[in-house]
Amino acid sequence: MLSRCLPGLLLASLGCSLALASPPQERWNTPYAEKTAALELKGDIVRGESAFVICQGCHRVGALGRSDGSYPRLAGQHATVLIKQLSDVRSGRRSNLKMLPFADHQALSMQDVADIAAYLRSLPVPASQGQGPGNDLARGRQLYERDCQVCHGRQGEGKADKFFPRVSGQHYQYLLREGGLIRDGKRRNAHPDMVQAISTYSDDDNAAVSDYMSRLPMDGR
Ligand code: HEC
Ligand code: HEC
Repeated sequence: MLSRCLPGLLLASLGCSLALASPPQERWNTPYAEKTAALELKGDIVRGESAFVICQGCHRVGALGRSDGSYPRLAGQHATVLIKQLSDVRSGRRSNLKMLPFADHQALSMQDVADIAAYLRSLPVPASQGQGPGNDLARGRQLYERDCQVCHGRQGEGKADKFFPRVSGQHYQYLLREGGLIRDGKRRNAHPDMVQAISTYSDDDNAAVSDYMSRLPMDGR
């Protein structure tokens, strides 16, 4: 709690009382109208496929992303996770300036968001994602089982109803980058228990755990 209040010393009393009013465990996923509405709409896979065409330039055909980690794989991700992440970007809770013009309120309706999420969830996930160097997998496994598995699941399958992303099938380089952003407080919508768990990780720890996650089997689907 202390570190949360330090950056804005002048606003510390305000910041801290707000923080006390709403526990961080809830703030990472506070309900807001746009997200709740998109989650309640029924997504249509066929419409979602057409709406996804504007996304393919970056996320690629089949939403397979790029193994250099510049664009994440979206295929097979839970619809709830996709809707939360898109709504968070659209409402300024997660930064993604590159993508925003293609995903903002002018580009996509809430129905489009629900349709795209249903389409992406339905896609197959080939086991051909980018992996890490493979030289520290025992350590990666140890860290994963101790700190991450409770939410991301034994096989990296995540948990749809809790908004925990699937991490199996994802590119190593993307996991590595996001792990760093989460640790350094730059993914503002991240679960505080995860931020806490990863806060003591060195770059080597982050690389080891990301490598391990990128190799989890996709048959946990
Ligand atoms: C100009 C390139 C670009 C376009 C076009 C684009 N995206 Fe993205 N998208 C990105 C980047 C880059 C990221 C990763 C951001 C980061 O590193 O935090 C991302 C991340 C995401 C994520 C979060 C994934 C996760 O695992 O948290 C979702 C969901 C997403 N995009 C959906 C879409 C959809 C749907 C469209 C089309 C409406 C779209 N994107 C169009 C660049 C793009
Ligand atoms: C308390 C549950 C929880 C724990 C523990 C947890 N995570 Fe997460 N993780 C989440 C949630 C929730 C998200 C999505 C965050 C958001 O809302 O933006 C996420 C997202 C991620 C992402 C980004 C995935 C994507 O698709 O963009 C990575 C990488 C990640 N976690 C790695 C880890 C690692 C490594 C650990 C262990 C050190 C860990 N997590 C522990 C809940 C957890």
